[in-house]
Amino acid sequence: MFDTMTITKAAGAFIGAALFLMLMSWAASGIYHVGSAGHGAEGEEHAQAYTIPVPESAEGGDAAADAGPDFATVMASADAAAGEKVFAKCKACHKLDGSDSTGPHLNGVVGRAVASAAGFNYSDGMKAHVTDAPDWTPEALEHFLLNPKAAAPGTKMTFAGLPKVEDRANLIAYLETQQ
Ligand code: HEC
Repeated sequence: MFDTMTITKAAGAFIGAALFLMLMSWAASGIYHVGSAGHGAEGEEHAQAYTIPVPESAEGGDAAADAGPDFATVMASADAAAGEKVFAKCKACHKLDGSDSTGPHLNGVVGRAVASAAGFNYSDGMKAHVTDAPDWTPEALEHFLLNPKAAAPGTKMTFAGLPKVEDRANLIAYLETQQ
């Protein structure tokens, strides 16, 4: 049977661990609120980077904090309905009815040749992007949407990018439904 001392030690260890976790999650949520006070997408990145230390360190360390799961994995379970919400960020410049506005129409863009919407006046940067990625495959879109200016230098698409891989995958899944 257990003697009193063993039970006392076990209880002490348990309470100590619970207190530690509470303090850690309190500290992490404090940092989270500071981070999310900034510009939307960046705040979310801070939240990810700082909430990592709360659970056990079984995941392989902080180095992987920003990398996350790879695109193919996320794309395999992408959610087109969630992607429709992400598309709200594109609506100011892109239509899905075949007509061009600030940007070219994006219905049918998945699989379409880069810079090929007839009558749209593409920048030289986007025309040059054809040599990097001839067609807008899901992978080419994913790469471009992470950071448009870096992926296609000289593009006139003034959009900072979608830092979350889930947002990119869900959005591409939604665009696939828009023919
Ligand atoms: C501020 C306006 C603006 C926003 C917001 C914007 N785009 Fe664009 N987009 C453009 C312009 C302008 C171009 C043409 C770029 C060029 O010629 O360099 C373009 C080009 C593109 C292209 C290349 C199309 C082709 O025919 O080759 C894709 C794909 C694209 N945008 C996707 C998106 C997505 C997805 C979003 C939302 C996450 C988005 N864009 C947000 C303005 C915008």
